[in-house]
Amino acid sequence: MNILLLGSGGREHALAWKIAQSSKVDRLFIAPGNAGTSQVGINLPVKADDFPALKLAVLDNHIDMVVVGPEDPLVKGVVDYFQDDADLCRIPVIGPSKSGARLEGSKDFSKAFMMRHQIPTARYFSVTEKNLEQGIAFLGQLKAPYVLKADGLAAGKGVLIIEDMQEAEKELRNMLDGKFGEASRTVLLEEFLSGIECSVFVVTDGRHYQILPEAKDYKRIGEGNTGLNTGGMGAVSPVPFADKVFMKKVEERIIRPTVEGLAEEGIDYKGFIFFGLIEVGMEPYVIEYNARMGDPETEVVMLRLKSDIVDLFEGIAAGDLDKRPVTFDPRAAVTVMLVSGGYPEAYEKGKIISGLNQVKDSIVFHAGTKAQADKILTNGGRVLAVSSYGSDKNAALAQSFANARKIDFEGVYFRSDIGSDL
Ligand code: AMP
Ligand code: GLY
Repeated sequence: MNILLLGSGGREHALAWKIAQSSKVDRLFIAPGNAGTSQVGINLPVKADDFPALKLAVLDNHIDMVVVGPEDPLVKGVVDYFQDDADLCRIPVIGPSKSGARLEGSKDFSKAFMMRHQIPTARYFSVTEKNLEQGIAFLGQLKAPYVLKADGLAAGKGVLIIEDMQEAEKELRNMLDGKFGEASRTVLLEEFLSGIECSVFVVTDGRHYQILPEAKDYKRIGEGNTGLNTGGMGAVSPVPFADKVFMKKVEERIIRPTVEGLAEEGIDYKGFIFFGLIEVGMEPYVIEYNARMGDPETEVVMLRLKSDIVDLFEGIAAGDLDKRPVTFDPRAAVTVMLVSGGYPEAYEKGKIISGLNQVKDSIVFHAGTKAQADKILTNGGRVLAVSSYGSDKNAALAQSFANARKIDFEGVYFRSDIGSDL
């Protein structure tokens, strides 16, 4: 079969790498892809959220299945677009409907969903201009630090954690005034939860689910988890505290009620669910849902997933995912992200990358790169994800760091403490 994968980051290169290993695939296309995805498939110059252009690409290339990497096309309704089009409606799209993607696209929706299904999460209050006074009263009931979240998508920047009450109140007003545009016309105030975070992923056909390997990502730019938030500086799988006992709680209290809750509410959801969890005193709580895989978590999860991912996608489409068990590679997997100098603030693109051919025994997933003539250039803040297996986390990390040091471009930076807190 021919598959079209949407997206252009490290997550998509890792998904493409895994899809390309399936014997079920004839041709793999990626729209728009990057210099890495073109090594395992064919890049198409089509934006992932340009639906009419995607339709042409799907028909031209005889695509049998579409897999959606990033959240944007999902939140904009790519699944519904395919379902509503007479030429496209028989082509399965792996990803939730627009309604299902609200789990990620609206924090107000996802919190209310968790409340309806008794899924453990931080206490919250949803504020708009209309109930600002009540919102401020709720802030007064919370202990510092105060968590303020824009309801809508804000490119990963919509969460503020503030120590001072006056400052929190001021930021609440700024957010309602449009600090994050329309995304923060509704703001969620949340109780602060203190603990270790971990990402858990499932694939679901809307009735059944299979749990994928879990991972921990490292969001801050600086060593020791300091400095600004980024899209993710590295990831590790497995996560030691996510043992059988913890995962049983996660499955019973979080995964199953989520999948059942979606079905009960008649929400069409066939794709990945990403549970952003926090462990507080051995108990799991949901920090957020995402309607897609994580990045850079995918760059380790795909290494540890032994099953044929296309078989799982077929199970999602057919509704028989219960008959398609998932097997894990017992080895550890890690990824270390090489980023552009200045990231996550202003950075330059177009730097020549050298040393890629020196890499041995790691898999380098491209995140922000582009090919130009015979050169590979940087084309984003996060540039390359150096992923490795190891008998344990430390062996895998040693491998990734050794290879990361062989790769060079002007301003290159990576965190050399990924995984050292575990
Ligand atoms: P989110 O976009 O909801 O995942 O939030 C981004 C990050 O903010 C999370 O990964 C957490 O590190 C932090 N965060 C969000 N909500 C809370 C909370 N209620 N308590 C503590 N930290 C939080
Ligand atoms: N690594 C976190 C995310 O993909 O949102």
